[in-house]
Amino acid sequence: MIKPFKNSKNIVNSQVFTPSPGRQDISDKFIKHDSNMLNQIYGTTDVKPYWIADMDFPIASPITQAMQQLVSRETYSYEFDSTTVFESISAWNKDRHNLELTPEHFVQVPGVLSAIAMLIRDFTQEGEGVLIQTPVYHQFRRLIESAGRTVVDNTLKIENGRYVIDFNDFEQKLSRGNVGMVLLCNPHNPVGRVWSKSELQQLTTIAKKYHVLIVSDEVHADIVFEGSQFTSMASLAYENSLTIIGSPAKNFGLNSISNGYIYSDNPSLREIIKATSASMSLDHGNAFTTHATIAAYQHGKDWFDAFLTYTQTTRNWIVDFMAAELPQVITFVPEGTNQIWFDFTGLNLTAGQLKTLLTKQAKMALTPGTWFGEKDENFYRMNFASPLEQVQASFEQLKKGIADSKPAK
Ligand SMILES: Cc1ncc(COP(=O)(O)O)c(C=O)c1O
Repeated sequence: MIKPFKNSKNIVNSQVFTPSPGRQDISDKFIKHDSNMLNQIYGTTDVKPYWIADMDFPIASPITQAMQQLVSRETYSYEFDSTTVFESISAWNKDRHNLELTPEHFVQVPGVLSAIAMLIRDFTQEGEGVLIQTPVYHQFRRLIESAGRTVVDNTLKIENGRYVIDFNDFEQKLSRGNVGMVLLCNPHNPVGRVWSKSELQQLTTIAKKYHVLIVSDEVHADIVFEGSQFTSMASLAYENSLTIIGSPAKNFGLNSISNGYIYSDNPSLREIIKATSASMSLDHGNAFTTHATIAAYQHGKDWFDAFLTYTQTTRNWIVDFMAAELPQVITFVPEGTNQIWFDFTGLNLTAGQLKTLLTKQAKMALTPGTWFGEKDENFYRMNFASPLEQVQASFEQLKKGIADSKPAK
């Protein structure tokens, strides 16, 4: 039984989080809004896109100002100030998560996914297993398989309406000796868990016992809601671990222009990564990435706090609405990330009927859970970083669509 949140009113200035008029003219170029993609996946463009994990809001004005200054110079010489970038990321993490990071212990990479692809090749052998915890961000599987490695699945369990790690299965899989890497999603996309310190400690104890490297993707680290506390793998003093501190992609809406940042206190691991990225000349940023990242982490705090309050309000509204109006749908309350995960089994619809309900009646483009390795076609993910009024209208349409639909299973 989900307890209602008390503050699901819109308590922040929705003006700031309304897409600017300029966006409408170019929105067809955004993958999230691309009409060809929508037609291909959902069979219609008449849907609100809640699939790709991009936000629908204008970014923080200090970042826009930094970009404007950069453009006004009319000069794009080689430029990457990694010292200031790493110092800014460290200061941000100290302030937000009380996490002590040494600026010299970072390695810059082009992006989070390319970092994962590189780490898989650097630290595992062909055919070796890489463990993931499904349902999980679908690109993990693609990267593992395209590197010729084997996916080892430590499926998450649902206990009291919440996803948890199956530690017995985790240990069993590691004990077989064919897992070379654990690829953790922390916080977890799509189920919205923010792994607790004790869960991560338990995981680490087992990994240590079998000498397995942990790689922790922490790109959603800052989007953590009241009542939950983010723990970085970098704080656990496990020398056989690499943390992808991430980038300002998800928290500051910079998916198109951000880099990735790997962190490890272990110098031998760092040297291996540095050598690989240098060998491919991938070890630096560019002017856009550098200026955007510094502006975000040095001057973006007020905007980010307002953004977090806004999306937490949206989360609370959705959870309250579902509990009151559509209790037959299971809503997994996200502790972090702007993703919410639903189980529509209680509607007793066929997979085809459910898809029609969501796309044609509710006009919502949600991501099918099967993309994330979920076998049951009743699961869907929604990215709720959209204007609250739009989200509310979508859920009213969903409620109406459900009232009009006839279960045929
Ligand atoms: C867990 C996770 N990792 C990585 C990414 C993508 O990172 P990047 O665009 O920097 O490669 C996403 C995007 O949604 C994500 O959810």
